[in-house]
Amino acid sequence: MSADQGAAGPYSRRLRQLHLAIATLIMSLAFTGLVFYFRKSLGLGDAKITLMTIHSFIGYALVAAIAWRLWLGFRGREPDRFSHALTGPQNFQKLFAGAQGRRHRFRFAGRSPLSRLIATVLYAAVFFNIGTGLIRAGTDLYFPPFGPFVLHYITAPGETPSVAAVKAGKVDKVRAEQIKEFKLPVGKVHLYGGLFILFLATVHASGALVTEWSAPADKAARGRARLMLFGPGKTRRPL
Ligand code: HEM
Ligand code: HEM
Repeated sequence: MSADQGAAGPYSRRLRQLHLAIATLIMSLAFTGLVFYFRKSLGLGDAKITLMTIHSFIGYALVAAIAWRLWLGFRGREPDRFSHALTGPQNFQKLFAGAQGRRHRFRFAGRSPLSRLIATVLYAAVFFNIGTGLIRAGTDLYFPPFGPFVLHYITAPGETPSVAAVKAGKVDKVRAEQIKEFKLPVGKVHLYGGLFILFLATVHASGALVTEWSAPADKAARGRARLMLFGPGKTRRPL
């Protein structure tokens, strides 16, 4: 464990690095996903497969970062555990108790019931989109983990399952049609999931920044955004 991990502040260096990585990867996925969606208007119609491949590679990087976060959340140091970052039934009571009165608004800023709720819904939506994204990467690009099964399913009987065979048209037409019918609604919910994630990420990031700027100076909430982004070294006021 590095010295910084035990240093002042609620977030370890590893958690801060992971937050930066996860936030950057999610925003890159939203960006490349939207470029993919508007590819024709952007004059990138011919780059469909390239755009999809770039987006999927970023998706695999996100899977790795989330796996690391899960490990920290369940097996890591106490402050990195999910019990300190996500929501539970007792937090809902605090959420409503905290809504009474203006001065209470900032009491829970940072690791507040509201920020925990948003982080929980954000993670749930990200898990969902990873699932639907991996399915589409399997059905469109034959990428793992589902791609090999799709290839096996649609390649014509007697042919060795491979991307080359499928591209050469050696497919079982009925099965290929079944996969097409299955993947269309999955792509649709992936798109809506992506837009929802973009919305939540914007609410979360602006909430964190607005709280930082508007919290009264005497409140412990002040400095959380800077602590998450820059660590204890660059905050003006240690907690
Ligand atoms: C200016 C930008 C941002 C700031 C200042 C910021 C700040 C923070 C802070 C202070 C927390 C900790 C909340 C707590 O104590 O429970 C947090 C958590 C989190 N943020 Fe951000 N954030 C920013 C951008 C983003 C973006 C763009 C995403 C992408 C979706 C994101 C995803 C998350 C997630 C998933 C968590 C939960 C962290 C955990 O695993 O414990 N953040 N953020
Ligand atoms: C937070 C995570 C993600 C966001 C915000 C996101 C966003 C998007 C968006 C907006 C599109 C365009 C949808 C359309 O044109 O109909 C898209 C398409 C796509 N995404 Fe993602 N994505 C995410 C994760 C992933 C992951 C993890 C993978 C796979 C490893 C993936 C694979 C794909 C593929 C193959 C497509 C093109 C097929 C389709 O239209 O569904 N995505 N994504």
